[in-house]
Amino acid sequence: MEGDFVVTPWQVTGDIDYDQLIQRFGTKKVDQALLDRLAGYGPLHPMLRRGVVYSQRDMEWLLDLYDKGVKFSLYTGRGPSGNTHLGHLMPWIFCKYLQDTFGAPLYFQMTDDEKFLFNEGLSLEDTYQKAMDNALDVIALGFDPDKTKIIIDTDCIRTLYPLSLKVAKKVTFSTAKAVFGFDNSTNIGSIFFTSVQSAPAFLPSVLEGRNVPILIPCGIDQDPHFRVTRDVAESLGFYKPALLHTKMFPGLTGGDKMSSSVPDSTIYTTDTAKVVRRKVGNAFTGGAVSAEEQRKTGGKPEVCAVFKYQYYLFEPSDQALDDLADRCRKGDVLCGECKKMLSDRLVHFLEGHQRRREEAKSQLGRFIMRCE
Ligand code: TRP
Repeated sequence: MEGDFVVTPWQVTGDIDYDQLIQRFGTKKVDQALLDRLAGYGPLHPMLRRGVVYSQRDMEWLLDLYDKGVKFSLYTGRGPSGNTHLGHLMPWIFCKYLQDTFGAPLYFQMTDDEKFLFNEGLSLEDTYQKAMDNALDVIALGFDPDKTKIIIDTDCIRTLYPLSLKVAKKVTFSTAKAVFGFDNSTNIGSIFFTSVQSAPAFLPSVLEGRNVPILIPCGIDQDPHFRVTRDVAESLGFYKPALLHTKMFPGLTGGDKMSSSVPDSTIYTTDTAKVVRRKVGNAFTGGAVSAEEQRKTGGKPEVCAVFKYQYYLFEPSDQALDDLADRCRKGDVLCGECKKMLSDRLVHFLEGHQRRREEAKSQLGRFIMRCE
């Protein structure tokens, strides 16, 4: 059925129609004019060129201010419910490009409170420990230690709380119900939580003592929170944050989002080479039943999870990507070979990432925001 998909901060199911999501959420497409403009600040990131970063709010406004010399800050985050997987890294890698391109400070929120409130099976100790663990993955991506602060909610609540309260006072229960689908059985912490996710969008203004424009790069599933943030911003004396939305990173077993409940559909940053090769080996490609058959009919890169991995994250060259798609359609390259190519790449990437992740352990103190 058309439109039969769900995208909320806590649930992503069905075949996502991304254009329809722009309509539903009331965002704007990242169009050619914006791409041309962004290309003026530095080489366009492949995620922009390929429409992986595809939707936005108020980017023209943000860049107008930037061109006048008004510096913005970046804000993104992670709900630490488990180990980090490649789907989580995708918007963070894009965020790193934004930091490098615009020299912008980054505030990175770890919502240990959120994951405690929304997950039956997780204790606050669990989610706090995961926040610390996931911070290693953020640091491993190479963010500038002088410009990056990781905010762990339960540690920094003294700093966040006054802002959260100001937001909370302006958001009614009926708005929270309409935006997030809550009902009378929802615990009251969950109802309050969106105001905690709003707070870092205003924090730079408080810390710097000037009205700081904010750009939030995030998965499109997080947009509902920031509709609330934007609705209250001006009445609190702040700018509305601008946004750049990514599509959801595809799962290896087919479908639109990596799912933590299907372990083989996700590759964790801590997976060993052996596990990576097994998972990629079992990935959904949509290929024909036999090699002979596939040489005749060709493959379908549009539906192939292995191709999507290259497209979303791992093949930097557009030319190489087009060639691969071409050879696949003609039956010149078969799934086994593609899987081998992707596995080699993933293993190589993870080797580097895991080394930097180890090194990050001694860097935690520099990155994690201290709040009294
Ligand atoms: N709620 C997000 C999650 O579950 C975490 C988060 C907090 C976030 N602040 C953010 C994500 C800002 C993107 C941007 O993953």
